[in-house]
Amino acid sequence: MGRGRTATLADRLAVVRGRVLPRHVALIMDGNGRWAQARGLPRMEGHRQGVKAAEHLVRFVGEEHLCPHLSLFAFSTENWNRPPDEVAFLFALLERFIREREEEFVERGVCLRVLGAVEALPPPLRRAIAEVEERTQDGDALHLAVGINFGGRWSILQGARRAVSLAREGKLDQLDEEAFARLLPTADLPEPDLIVRTGEERRISNFYLWEAAYAELYFTATLWPDFDEEAFLVALEDFQGRRRRFGGVAA
Ligand code: FPP
Repeated sequence: MGRGRTATLADRLAVVRGRVLPRHVALIMDGNGRWAQARGLPRMEGHRQGVKAAEHLVRFVGEEHLCPHLSLFAFSTENWNRPPDEVAFLFALLERFIREREEEFVERGVCLRVLGAVEALPPPLRRAIAEVEERTQDGDALHLAVGINFGGRWSILQGARRAVSLAREGKLDQLDEEAFARLLPTADLPEPDLIVRTGEERRISNFYLWEAAYAELYFTATLWPDFDEEAFLVALEDFQGRRRRFGGVAA
């Protein structure tokens, strides 16, 4: 930089890479509807653009090795309250996203995993999820977790149910935080270091709850379809400026 020049994306990437990167970034993608509304377009167009933004970001994060784990909160357990045609449209979009990215994920080493109560999803979406999860299971460049019919409370409840059934079978010696975390659907993921929410609202909306205990939270007014590479870098730069103490004192 210097001499009045603005840092290019490449300069900024180099700086960000020289500092501590998060292991896991989780994204609450909000604002598709408002993005469309602002342009006089139907909400569905906002979701279509939202998928494009997600595709770009997954590619960017994977190519630039910005974090080994990325989570996208695509459909919450509360999103069933939307009009049925919007719900059906979202499921069709997600199915297409999964199918259309399959080859790219395999080639680029992206391991896709869907978190959520998938049994309630339409069978074609469930089939797409199962097939692509299987085909990408050995991918090691980027672990992509997509929440579909996911909720933080649902997730904790799964853990509690497993604990009860293990206890009934006499297979649960002790239940401490570590043991309980291993019973959650998110057991294979590191806890998120950074949770980003686009679209102005400042809440977690039943996304990762247990897992968010020590996550840094980053809120931006940028609507999801506009959340591009630069916006992601700004979030990383903000994260790298934080002092993480995990309940202790600063080093
Ligand atoms: C948020 O906007 C969008 C959703 C909850 C829908 C799901 C997300 C996408 C389709 C983006 C792509 C995701 C993947 C995994 C490819 P909103 O409808 O809540 O917007 P609003 O708050 O402005 O109404």
